[in-house]
Amino acid sequence: MIILGIDTSCDDTSMALLEGKNKVLSNVVSSQADLHSLFGGIVPEIASRRHVELIDNIYRDAIAKAGVSPHEIDAISVTNGPGLIGSILVGLCFAKGLAVSLKKSLIGINHVEAHVMSIFLEYDVGFPFLGLVVSGGHTTIMLVHEPCVYEVIGSTRDDAAGEAFDKVAKFLGIGYPGGQIIERMSRTGKRDFVMFPRPMAEEDNLDFSFSGLKTAFINWTRKNKLTEDNLIDVLASFQEAVFDTLWRKILKATKRFNIKRVVVGGGVAANSRLREMFRERCGNEGLLVYFPSPTNCTDNAAMVAATGYFYFERGRLSPLDIKGISRMRIKV
Ligand code: KG4
Ligand code: ZN
Repeated sequence: MIILGIDTSCDDTSMALLEGKNKVLSNVVSSQADLHSLFGGIVPEIASRRHVELIDNIYRDAIAKAGVSPHEIDAISVTNGPGLIGSILVGLCFAKGLAVSLKKSLIGINHVEAHVMSIFLEYDVGFPFLGLVVSGGHTTIMLVHEPCVYEVIGSTRDDAAGEAFDKVAKFLGIGYPGGQIIERMSRTGKRDFVMFPRPMAEEDNLDFSFSGLKTAFINWTRKNKLTEDNLIDVLASFQEAVFDTLWRKILKATKRFNIKRVVVGGGVAANSRLREMFRERCGNEGLLVYFPSPTNCTDNAAMVAATGYFYFERGRLSPLDIKGISRMRIKV
């Protein structure tokens, strides 16, 4: 079985070909980060126009790298939400056109679900497990009962974790996307230099709020002097506060639902300090934690194809008039 995955939910144009459950034949990702870095964040109109310019070549590239003929494709799995609607529609319309012309099945995929299911490209995780998605658009905890059966048990009430990194980086004028830059700069920083708040950590729910943490960072720089000497320590402390907050909620969730397995996906999950912290703390608590390889954490179409595999296997296909949905929720 060969599945074509397509993801244009945000600022990356990506297509992948997947054979069976986890053999990635190709996974082409064209990042637009250089375009958007000029503005310190994603400009939706620029993103969707760029997808239109790139998508045909990305398709040809993915097909050529995989060494398959388009007629060998069994199903087309495409992100139809959540994300930037103008961007989503480029991939979705392309997928529909291809499905009609090749007479293939179409499967609409939730991008957040795909970040979690990307783990199956590399590991056969047992069910049930907790899925934590930490990206630029989402901070979500899901209870994954079995493939295609999920429950959202926690999410952010304002900014996503990655968004907090991006906004702090924009405030400091150190570049975009902020996550990788802050990770690099804070590698040797003192993580306990500033005790930033852990928003909502003590509350009896599994939700997050990262907007306040970003504000706490900005306020600190107004009250104290940010210098070349203390910058890496302040950034390391900020990063630690984000990850410690994530950890506290995950620990709470594992206890509440009596779950021993945790999967962490999304762009922020590429961060080596997050991976180190979760591995160490999960080990101490007797929990198993799984991370996709860093390149499978950030947006890519292989994860969309991998999710599509489970839907295709269960005969859960989408109609040709499936809609693009910007604020799509996870199906239960
Ligand atoms: O999953 P992703 O590629 O796109 C969305 O679905 O949002 O995630 C992008 C986000 C950005 O906010 C970026 O700053 C963050 O992931 N990110 C990181 C790292 N790499 C990407 N954050 C922290 N550390 C990283 N190494
Ligand atoms: Zn994403």
